[in-house]
Amino acid sequence: MADSKLQGTRVLLGVTGSIAAYKAVGLLRTLMGHGADVSVVMTDSATRFIAPLTFEVLSKHPVATDIFSGHQDMPHLSLPESVDLIVLAPCTANTIAQFALGLADNLLSTLLLTTQCPVLIAPAMDGDMWEQPVIKQHVQTLRARGVVVLEPEVGELASGKFGRGRLPNEETIVEAVCEQVAATKELAGRRILISAGPTREPIDAVRFISNGSSGKMGYALARAAHKRGAEVTLVSGPTSLHPLWGVECVSVQTAEEMSQALQSRFGAADVLIMTAAVGDFRPLHRREEKLKKRDWQGEPIELERTTDILAALSAQRTHQLLIGFAAETNDLIENGREKLEKKRLDMVVVNQVGGRDSAFDNETNEVIVLTRHGKVTPMPRMSKHLVANRILDELQEFQLASPALPPQSLSKHYSESK
Ligand code: CTP
Repeated sequence: MADSKLQGTRVLLGVTGSIAAYKAVGLLRTLMGHGADVSVVMTDSATRFIAPLTFEVLSKHPVATDIFSGHQDMPHLSLPESVDLIVLAPCTANTIAQFALGLADNLLSTLLLTTQCPVLIAPAMDGDMWEQPVIKQHVQTLRARGVVVLEPEVGELASGKFGRGRLPNEETIVEAVCEQVAATKELAGRRILISAGPTREPIDAVRFISNGSSGKMGYALARAAHKRGAEVTLVSGPTSLHPLWGVECVSVQTAEEMSQALQSRFGAADVLIMTAAVGDFRPLHRREEKLKKRDWQGEPIELERTTDILAALSAQRTHQLLIGFAAETNDLIENGREKLEKKRLDMVVVNQVGGRDSAFDNETNEVIVLTRHGKVTPMPRMSKHLVANRILDELQEFQLASPALPPQSLSKHYSESK
């Protein structure tokens, strides 16, 4: 009987060239029956056993078979980033070997090489192949990497022989999927409020003051927190990024709008992560119409300070854990620590801005995480997706070590640490 155990879960089902490929149809329907949103990727040989159209109609998603298929710009990069779990069923000896060795000659093996998300394998092959020492070794390698490889079942095989090699039954696979998904929902029940992107402070009807933040770090955090089961709200300044599936996305333009959007949601949040590059200054007077060149006589644009949103929310906190980002060009640790203390935060993620390796509008980031307990964690340069996951690991560790302090004891904490 179907239920909603997998509600809100995105599964990528990889189907490879085995006679058991037809059984993946039943598996797809059962996973969907439990509430999962399933996309299918097939190898070429799988398409000789069963038509992609079958999966396409049932899953309501295009089936990707080829790196160059054109369904998405770069399916091997975008598909695995957006799913919670990859299930390979049925998985042939060839795909197991490719995955273990890091070979990538088709879309499925390529995305296995790019993914960070958990992978579950339901093998299906001839019994003699499963017993081969080389396959045993590959399975051992994959299990050591944290991949769940189910045992194939014993029974009559396609060759007519009897042995271990049959695709595990659907119930076993679905149970393993549910277990895997439950294990990744470490932030279930947590409400996380995240700000992202730049703000725009209008000068006139068409011009504004802004900065080069792309929003990628905040979006990566929102996606990663959602995958870990958190209830996520993302308040974002103008970016070219798409709203995230499963995340409440609120669009704002100015620092004032961002402040209001965060203020109204802060009380209900458990954690606030401020990745936004909030504009610190705004024009004192905004012209409603466009300023014509001929009308400008060289008058300067007068600026005023915007609210420091993070500092204001920190002063109002009741139970929330606060994480700030510090955009610095120099003296990273020193400046980051100063912001941590001044804004009374639990953690600060310091990143370098300006220069060739600037965190702004970059696919990668190199950060240092500072906590109010004095822990300093420098991280190597990696994709913003990986950085996001490492920051969430730090957050979870911090939460376990020290639940949020009430405001009175927090004031004491900061005055003692002076
Ligand atoms: N921040 C904020 N409101 C502002 C400015 C910054 O909430 N008006 C938040 C940012 O989202 C970030 C943290 O404060 O999490 C630090 O931002 P940063 O720009 O590094 O520093 P500032 O506080 O603006 O200080 P400075 O310009 O002196 O570096």
